Amino acid sequence: MILKIDVEQGASSPFFVAAGFGGSERGTDMQKKVTVVGAGNVGAACAQYLAEGNLSDVVLIDVIEGLPQGKALDLTQAGPIRGYDAKVTGSNDYAAAAGSSLVIITAGIARKPGMSREDLLNTNIQIMDAVMAGIKAHCPNAMLLVVSNPLDVMTYRAWKKSGLPPHMVFGQAGVLDSTRFRTFVAMELGCAMTETQAMVLGGHGDSMVPLPRYTTVSGIPITELLSKERIEAIAQRTRDGGAEIVRLLKSGSAYYAPAASTVAMADAILNDRKTILAASAYLSGQYGLKDVYIGVPVTLGAGGVEKIHELKLDKPELEALQKSASVYKEIIASLS
Ligand code: 2OP
Repeated sequence: MILKIDVEQGASSPFFVAAGFGGSERGTDMQKKVTVVGAGNVGAACAQYLAEGNLSDVVLIDVIEGLPQGKALDLTQAGPIRGYDAKVTGSNDYAAAAGSSLVIITAGIARKPGMSREDLLNTNIQIMDAVMAGIKAHCPNAMLLVVSNPLDVMTYRAWKKSGLPPHMVFGQAGVLDSTRFRTFVAMELGCAMTETQAMVLGGHGDSMVPLPRYTTVSGIPITELLSKERIEAIAQRTRDGGAEIVRLLKSGSAYYAPAASTVAMADAILNDRKTILAASAYLSGQYGLKDVYIGVPVTLGAGGVEKIHELKLDKPELEALQKSASVYKEIIASLS
Protein backbone atom coordinates (compact mmCIF):
# COMPACT_ATOMS: atom_id res chain seq x y z
CA MET A 1 0.00 0.00 0.00
CA ILE A 2 1.26 3.48 -0.74
CA LEU A 3 0.67 5.78 2.16
CA LYS A 4 0.31 9.38 1.03
CA ILE A 5 1.53 11.85 3.61
CA ASP A 6 0.58 15.47 3.00
CA VAL A 7 3.45 16.94 4.90
CA GLU A 8 3.47 19.94 2.55
CA GLN A 9 6.97 21.03 3.35
CA GLY A 10 8.24 21.93 -0.08
CA ALA A 11 10.10 20.22 -2.87
CA SER A 12 12.79 18.57 -0.83
CA SER A 13 10.31 16.73 1.34
CA PRO A 14 9.33 13.17 0.47
CA PHE A 15 5.59 12.90 0.22
CA PHE A 16 5.07 9.31 -0.73
CA VAL A 17 6.28 6.66 1.65
CA ALA A 18 5.90 3.00 0.89
CA ALA A 19 4.22 1.21 3.74
CA GLY A 20 4.67 -2.52 3.24
CA PHE A 21 5.37 -4.13 -0.11
CA GLY A 22 2.31 -6.01 -1.31
CA GLY A 23 0.07 -3.32 -2.72
CA SER A 24 2.43 -1.04 -4.61
CA GLU A 25 1.90 -1.68 -8.33
CA ARG A 26 5.37 -0.53 -9.25
CA GLY A 27 7.30 -1.34 -6.09
CA THR A 28 8.32 2.32 -6.05
CA ASP A 29 9.13 3.41 -2.54
CA MET A 30 9.31 7.11 -3.21
CA GLN A 31 7.91 8.84 -6.23
CA LYS A 32 7.59 12.57 -6.63
CA LYS A 33 4.29 14.05 -7.61
CA VAL A 34 3.77 17.04 -9.88
CA THR A 35 0.41 18.61 -10.62
CA VAL A 36 -0.14 20.24 -13.99
CA VAL A 37 -3.10 22.62 -14.04
CA GLY A 38 -4.59 22.95 -17.51
CA ALA A 39 -4.89 19.89 -19.73
CA GLY A 40 -4.61 21.78 -23.00
CA ASN A 41 -1.71 21.39 -25.41
CA VAL A 42 0.98 22.83 -23.12
CA GLY A 43 -0.27 21.01 -20.02
CA ALA A 44 -0.57 17.66 -21.79
CA ALA A 45 2.89 18.03 -23.37
CA CYS A 46 4.31 18.84 -19.90
CA ALA A 47 2.70 15.66 -18.55
CA GLN A 48 4.18 13.70 -21.46
CA TYR A 49 7.72 15.01 -20.96
CA LEU A 50 7.54 14.55 -17.18
CA ALA A 51 6.44 10.94 -17.65
CA GLU A 52 8.91 10.20 -20.44
CA GLY A 53 11.71 11.61 -18.30
CA ASN A 54 10.51 9.41 -15.41
CA LEU A 55 10.69 12.60 -13.38
CA SER A 56 7.54 12.22 -11.34
CA ASP A 57 3.99 10.99 -11.11
CA VAL A 58 1.69 13.51 -12.75
CA VAL A 59 -1.78 14.77 -11.93
CA LEU A 60 -3.48 16.68 -14.72
CA ILE A 61 -6.24 19.04 -13.59
CA ASP A 62 -8.71 20.85 -15.80
CA VAL A 63 -12.23 22.24 -15.47
CA ILE A 64 -13.42 20.42 -18.62
CA GLU A 65 -14.96 17.12 -17.59
CA GLY A 66 -13.25 14.12 -19.08
CA LEU A 67 -10.38 16.07 -20.68
CA PRO A 68 -7.70 15.53 -18.01
CA GLN A 69 -8.90 11.98 -17.35
CA GLY A 70 -8.84 11.11 -21.07
CA LYS A 71 -5.40 12.60 -21.71
CA ALA A 72 -4.01 10.97 -18.57
CA LEU A 73 -5.30 7.55 -19.58
CA ASP A 74 -3.96 8.00 -23.10
CA LEU A 75 -0.53 8.97 -21.74
CA THR A 76 -0.58 6.01 -19.34
CA GLN A 77 -1.24 3.67 -22.26
CA ALA A 78 1.83 5.04 -24.05
CA GLY A 79 3.98 4.04 -21.07
CA PRO A 80 4.69 0.40 -21.97
CA ILE A 81 6.03 1.48 -25.38
CA ARG A 82 7.76 4.70 -24.33
CA GLY A 83 9.27 3.00 -21.30
CA TYR A 84 7.86 4.81 -18.30
CA ASP A 85 6.08 3.77 -15.14
CA ALA A 86 4.98 7.19 -14.00
CA LYS A 87 1.44 7.26 -12.69
CA VAL A 88 -0.46 9.81 -14.79
CA THR A 89 -3.95 10.65 -13.55
CA GLY A 90 -6.52 13.29 -14.43
CA SER A 91 -9.10 15.07 -12.33
CA ASN A 92 -11.50 18.01 -12.27
CA ASP A 93 -10.97 18.31 -8.52
CA TYR A 94 -8.04 20.12 -6.92
CA ALA A 95 -8.11 17.59 -4.08
CA ALA A 96 -6.11 15.38 -6.47
CA ALA A 97 -3.21 17.84 -6.23
CA ALA A 98 -2.68 17.17 -2.51
CA GLY A 99 0.86 16.01 -1.78
CA SER A 100 2.41 17.60 -4.87
CA SER A 101 5.72 19.31 -4.31
CA LEU A 102 5.46 21.27 -7.56
CA VAL A 103 2.44 22.69 -9.37
CA ILE A 104 2.82 23.76 -12.98
CA ILE A 105 0.13 26.26 -13.99
CA THR A 106 -0.65 26.30 -17.71
CA ALA A 107 -4.36 27.16 -17.43
CA GLY A 108 -5.68 30.02 -19.52
CA ILE A 109 -6.71 30.89 -23.04
CA ALA A 110 -4.08 31.03 -25.78
CA ARG A 111 -3.44 33.75 -28.33
CA LYS A 112 -5.07 33.96 -31.74
CA PRO A 113 -3.26 35.56 -34.69
CA GLY A 114 -2.83 39.31 -34.17
CA MET A 115 -3.19 39.12 -30.38
CA SER A 116 -0.45 40.02 -27.93
CA ARG A 117 0.10 38.01 -24.76
CA GLU A 118 -1.17 41.05 -22.84
CA ASP A 119 -4.53 40.77 -24.66
CA LEU A 120 -5.13 37.59 -22.64
CA LEU A 121 -4.86 39.40 -19.32
CA ASN A 122 -8.48 39.92 -18.27
CA THR A 123 -9.58 36.35 -18.94
CA ASN A 124 -6.46 34.65 -17.66
CA ILE A 125 -6.26 36.63 -14.42
CA GLN A 126 -9.69 35.31 -13.46
CA ILE A 127 -8.63 31.79 -14.33
CA MET A 128 -5.46 32.24 -12.25
CA ASP A 129 -7.46 33.37 -9.22
CA ALA A 130 -9.67 30.28 -9.46
CA VAL A 131 -6.62 28.03 -9.86
CA MET A 132 -4.91 29.57 -6.86
CA ALA A 133 -8.02 29.05 -4.70
CA GLY A 134 -7.91 25.33 -5.55
CA ILE A 135 -4.17 25.01 -5.03
CA LYS A 136 -4.23 26.89 -1.72
CA ALA A 137 -6.96 24.62 -0.45
CA HIS A 138 -5.15 21.39 -1.25
CA CYS A 139 -1.40 21.94 -1.53
CA PRO A 140 -0.60 25.38 -0.14
CA ASN A 141 3.11 24.69 0.24
CA ALA A 142 3.88 23.37 -3.23
CA MET A 143 6.27 25.39 -5.38
CA LEU A 144 4.53 27.11 -8.28
CA LEU A 145 5.87 27.17 -11.82
CA VAL A 146 3.72 29.50 -13.90
CA VAL A 147 3.43 29.15 -17.67
CA SER A 148 0.15 31.01 -18.36
CA ASN A 149 0.30 34.31 -20.25
CA PRO A 150 0.95 37.17 -19.91
CA LEU A 151 3.64 35.30 -18.06
CA ASP A 152 5.31 37.85 -15.81
CA VAL A 153 2.01 39.33 -14.64
CA MET A 154 0.45 35.92 -14.05
CA THR A 155 3.47 34.84 -12.03
CA TYR A 156 3.17 37.95 -9.87
CA ARG A 157 -0.54 37.26 -9.38
CA ALA A 158 0.07 33.61 -8.44
CA TRP A 159 2.68 34.73 -5.89
CA LYS A 160 0.35 37.35 -4.39
CA LYS A 161 -2.48 34.85 -4.05
CA SER A 162 -0.24 32.05 -2.76
CA GLY A 163 1.14 33.68 0.38
CA LEU A 164 4.41 31.83 -0.35
CA PRO A 165 7.90 33.31 -0.16
CA PRO A 166 8.93 34.59 -3.60
CA HIS A 167 11.67 31.99 -4.12
CA MET A 168 8.92 29.32 -4.27
CA VAL A 169 6.99 30.99 -7.10
CA PHE A 170 8.55 31.56 -10.52
CA GLY A 171 7.65 31.70 -14.18
CA GLN A 172 8.79 29.88 -17.29
CA ALA A 173 9.69 32.05 -20.22
CA GLY A 174 13.44 32.70 -20.31
CA VAL A 175 14.21 29.06 -21.04
CA LEU A 176 11.75 29.12 -23.95
CA ASP A 177 12.99 32.43 -25.32
CA SER A 178 16.58 31.25 -24.92
CA THR A 179 15.96 27.92 -26.68
CA ARG A 180 14.39 29.83 -29.56
CA PHE A 181 17.44 32.10 -29.74
CA ARG A 182 19.71 29.02 -29.61
CA THR A 183 17.73 27.36 -32.39
CA PHE A 184 17.97 30.38 -34.69
CA VAL A 185 21.70 30.75 -33.98
CA ALA A 186 22.25 27.07 -34.86
CA MET A 187 20.15 27.40 -38.02
CA GLU A 188 22.12 30.51 -39.07
CA LEU A 189 25.53 28.94 -38.47
CA GLY A 190 24.58 25.40 -39.51
CA CYS A 191 26.03 24.15 -36.23
CA ALA A 192 24.84 21.67 -33.63
CA MET A 193 21.91 23.01 -31.60
CA THR A 194 23.23 21.31 -28.48
CA GLU A 195 26.47 23.33 -28.65
CA THR A 196 24.60 26.63 -28.37
CA GLN A 197 23.87 28.52 -25.16
CA ALA A 198 21.79 31.68 -24.90
CA MET A 199 20.54 34.16 -22.37
CA VAL A 200 17.30 36.07 -22.93
CA LEU A 201 16.18 38.31 -20.08
CA GLY A 202 13.22 40.61 -19.48
CA GLY A 203 9.53 39.95 -19.83
CA HIS A 204 8.00 37.26 -22.03
CA GLY A 205 6.72 39.71 -24.64
CA ASP A 206 7.83 42.15 -27.29
CA SER A 207 10.16 43.87 -24.79
CA MET A 208 12.23 40.74 -24.03
CA VAL A 209 16.00 41.26 -24.02
CA PRO A 210 18.12 38.73 -25.96
CA LEU A 211 21.75 39.17 -24.85
CA PRO A 212 24.19 38.41 -27.71
CA ARG A 213 27.21 38.98 -25.41
CA TYR A 214 26.04 36.06 -23.27
CA THR A 215 25.05 33.84 -26.21
CA THR A 216 27.71 31.39 -27.29
CA VAL A 217 28.52 28.42 -29.49
CA SER A 218 30.95 26.05 -27.78
CA GLY A 219 31.97 28.95 -25.56
CA ILE A 220 32.50 31.44 -28.43
CA PRO A 221 30.27 34.54 -28.16
CA ILE A 222 28.11 34.91 -31.25
CA THR A 223 29.36 38.49 -31.51
CA GLU A 224 32.55 36.87 -32.89
CA LEU A 225 30.72 34.52 -35.26
CA LEU A 226 27.96 36.63 -36.81
CA SER A 227 27.52 40.16 -38.11
CA LYS A 228 25.65 42.75 -36.06
CA GLU A 229 22.84 42.75 -38.65
CA ARG A 230 22.41 38.97 -38.56
CA ILE A 231 22.42 38.95 -34.77
CA GLU A 232 19.73 41.64 -34.66
CA ALA A 233 17.63 39.71 -37.20
CA ILE A 234 17.90 36.55 -35.10
CA ALA A 235 17.14 38.46 -31.90
CA GLN A 236 14.02 39.94 -33.52
CA ARG A 237 12.86 36.53 -34.73
CA THR A 238 13.29 35.36 -31.13
CA ARG A 239 11.13 38.23 -29.84
CA ASP A 240 8.52 37.24 -32.44
CA GLY A 241 9.05 33.52 -31.84
CA GLY A 242 5.67 32.86 -30.20
CA ALA A 243 3.74 35.04 -32.66
CA GLU A 244 5.36 33.30 -35.67
CA ILE A 245 3.93 29.99 -34.47
CA VAL A 246 0.52 31.50 -33.59
CA ARG A 247 0.37 32.83 -37.17
CA LEU A 248 1.19 29.43 -38.62
CA LEU A 249 -1.16 27.43 -36.40
CA LYS A 250 -3.99 29.97 -36.81
CA SER A 251 -5.67 28.68 -33.67
CA GLY A 252 -3.67 28.20 -30.51
CA SER A 253 -0.03 28.77 -29.74
CA ALA A 254 3.20 26.82 -29.44
CA TYR A 255 3.40 23.91 -27.04
CA TYR A 256 6.30 21.52 -27.71
CA ALA A 257 9.05 24.03 -26.93
CA PRO A 258 7.10 25.72 -24.10
CA ALA A 259 6.51 22.34 -22.45
CA ALA A 260 10.10 21.18 -23.00
CA SER A 261 11.29 24.41 -21.37
CA THR A 262 8.90 24.00 -18.44
CA VAL A 263 9.96 20.43 -17.82
CA ALA A 264 13.64 21.45 -17.95
CA MET A 265 12.83 23.74 -15.03
CA ALA A 266 10.86 21.00 -13.24
CA ASP A 267 13.86 18.68 -13.68
CA ALA A 268 16.16 21.29 -12.10
CA ILE A 269 13.87 21.43 -9.07
CA LEU A 270 12.99 17.76 -8.71
CA ASN A 271 16.61 16.66 -9.09
CA ASP A 272 18.12 19.65 -7.30
CA ARG A 273 20.35 20.35 -10.30
CA LYS A 274 21.26 23.96 -9.39
CA THR A 275 20.80 24.88 -13.04
CA ILE A 276 21.51 28.47 -14.02
CA LEU A 277 18.79 29.57 -16.38
CA ALA A 278 16.61 32.59 -17.12
CA ALA A 279 13.32 32.58 -15.24
CA SER A 280 10.70 35.09 -14.21
CA ALA A 281 11.68 35.79 -10.60
CA TYR A 282 10.70 38.28 -7.95
CA LEU A 283 13.11 41.19 -7.73
CA SER A 284 13.69 43.14 -4.55
CA GLY A 285 16.28 45.66 -5.73
CA GLN A 286 18.38 43.59 -8.16
CA TYR A 287 19.00 45.40 -11.45
CA GLY A 288 17.48 48.49 -9.80
CA LEU A 289 14.05 46.85 -9.87
CA LYS A 290 11.64 46.16 -7.03
CA ASP A 291 8.33 44.37 -6.51
CA VAL A 292 8.10 42.92 -9.99
CA TYR A 293 8.49 39.50 -11.61
CA ILE A 294 10.77 39.61 -14.64
CA GLY A 295 13.17 37.29 -16.50
CA VAL A 296 16.64 37.20 -14.93
CA PRO A 297 19.33 34.52 -14.54
CA VAL A 298 18.70 32.38 -11.47
CA THR A 299 20.01 29.20 -9.90
CA LEU A 300 17.13 26.73 -9.79
CA GLY A 301 17.22 23.74 -7.44
CA ALA A 302 15.23 21.91 -4.78
CA GLY A 303 14.87 25.21 -2.92
CA GLY A 304 13.28 26.89 -5.93
CA VAL A 305 15.01 30.14 -6.94
CA GLU A 306 18.11 29.69 -4.80
CA LYS A 307 19.98 32.68 -6.18
CA ILE A 308 19.39 35.60 -8.52
CA HIS A 309 22.47 36.43 -10.56
CA GLU A 310 23.18 40.08 -11.26
CA LEU A 311 25.08 40.26 -14.54
CA LYS A 312 27.22 43.29 -15.23
CA LEU A 313 24.96 44.58 -17.97
CA ASP A 314 26.10 47.49 -20.09
CA LYS A 315 23.93 50.63 -20.22
CA PRO A 316 21.70 49.70 -23.20
CA GLU A 317 21.18 46.16 -21.86
CA LEU A 318 20.22 47.41 -18.39
CA GLU A 319 17.94 50.07 -19.84
CA ALA A 320 16.22 47.46 -22.02
CA LEU A 321 15.66 45.21 -18.98
CA GLN A 322 14.32 48.09 -16.90
CA LYS A 323 12.07 49.21 -19.75
CA SER A 324 10.71 45.69 -20.08
CA ALA A 325 10.04 45.53 -16.32
CA SER A 326 8.22 48.87 -16.44
CA VAL A 327 5.71 47.41 -18.94
CA TYR A 328 4.74 44.70 -16.45
CA LYS A 329 4.86 46.98 -13.41
CA GLU A 330 2.30 49.17 -15.11
CA ILE A 331 -0.01 46.23 -15.81
CA ILE A 332 0.34 45.01 -12.21
CA ALA A 333 -0.46 48.50 -10.92
CA SER A 334 -3.55 48.66 -13.13
CA LEU A 335 -4.76 45.38 -11.59
CA SER A 336 -4.54 46.51 -8.02
C1 2OP B 1 5.03 31.23 -26.64
O1 2OP B 1 5.87 32.14 -26.63
C2 2OP B 1 2.94 30.33 -25.68
O2 2OP B 1 4.00 32.23 -24.74
C3 2OP B 1 4.17 31.04 -25.42
O3 2OP B 1 4.94 30.44 -27.57
